[in-house]
Amino acid sequence: MSKITASIKGVHGYVPDYILTNSELEKMVDTNDEWITSRTGIKERRILKGEGLGASHMMVKAVEGLLAKTNTSAADIEMVICCTSTPDLVFPATANIVATQVGAVNAFGYDIQAACSGFLYGLTTGSQFIESGRLKKVLVIGGDKMSSIIDYTDRATCIIFGDGAGAVLLEANEEGNGLMDFWLRSDGSGEPYLHMTAGGSRKPASHETVDLKEHFVYQDGKTVFKFAVTNMAYAATQVMQRNNLTGDDIAYLVPHQANKRIIDATARGVGVPDEKVLMNIEKYGNTTNGTIPLLLWDFESKFKKGDNLLIAAFGGGFTWGAAYLKWAY
Ligand code: COA
Repeated sequence: MSKITASIKGVHGYVPDYILTNSELEKMVDTNDEWITSRTGIKERRILKGEGLGASHMMVKAVEGLLAKTNTSAADIEMVICCTSTPDLVFPATANIVATQVGAVNAFGYDIQAACSGFLYGLTTGSQFIESGRLKKVLVIGGDKMSSIIDYTDRATCIIFGDGAGAVLLEANEEGNGLMDFWLRSDGSGEPYLHMTAGGSRKPASHETVDLKEHFVYQDGKTVFKFAVTNMAYAATQVMQRNNLTGDDIAYLVPHQANKRIIDATARGVGVPDEKVLMNIEKYGNTTNGTIPLLLWDFESKFKKGDNLLIAAFGGGFTWGAAYLKWAY
């Protein structure tokens, strides 16, 4: 019997309508379009407006689109993995909220919190349930409402992040396509450089934490930049070497959309030419768990069955890794 691999059967995304442009940011903080574009590659990002709407709002829309386009009944979904750093609530899991709203009544699920590497962690986790033969249909969702934890008076962070979500359907594949290999790492010593100080059990919300703006993302951009460049390329290289792949064998590099300069450096580090590097950071910014599924969604029509895709990610934690997959359709 041939080995079962987990392959992506479809991908869909959702971004909110509101577009926050660099010129609008110029009116909010001391910045300018030229600085943002040259340092990050970002021109605009989407913001979810509307009272009471959490990250699940975007995830539900992405999943509904995915189920429709893959002609899948929600009742056939067995597992929902939700990768997010901005869950609707601390508990219960956003995976449960989304599953119920889309009608996945026969599924179990949970959230994965690995900051910007979350979707990669979720994709590899979901794949294990398929490869083992235990499950047949798994949804992996990645998305964030980053605007809910961004201080729009802090020019170091507000120019970078945006809101959005995407989802993939994983199914068993016996043609040799799907997830081939992955390499993941994490290192908690990265915490001081990228975190949100309050709102967890160590420092619950109080008037003081609100006054001190401790419910917003803190980032030491320079340090994060250095670690991201080194580690994304290293992870991708590990996967390439283990599978005897060179840049010529890669159809597309699918990098987490953190910063155009980080993406360019990663591509150079692994020897993949510009035309094979997927990018949409200019229109969405860094949507954290949303970047990779949104990228797959935007470029889905380019992919051919059997194409070698190399995913690489880096995020708060620190967390980082890479995955090699063969596109299945
Ligand atoms: N607009 C204009 N000027 C700004 C600015 C902004 N939004 N933010 C910072 N500056 C200024 C700084 O004050 C500094 O001025 P100075 O030289 O007079 O002191 C100058 O620009 C350079 O700042 P610096 O922080 O050194 O910029 P940088 O080249 O490191 O770029 C980031 C800043 C945030 C774009 C970059 O560090 C980065 O992308 N880091 C990684 C972030 C990331 O990807 N995070 C997610 C990881 S998953």
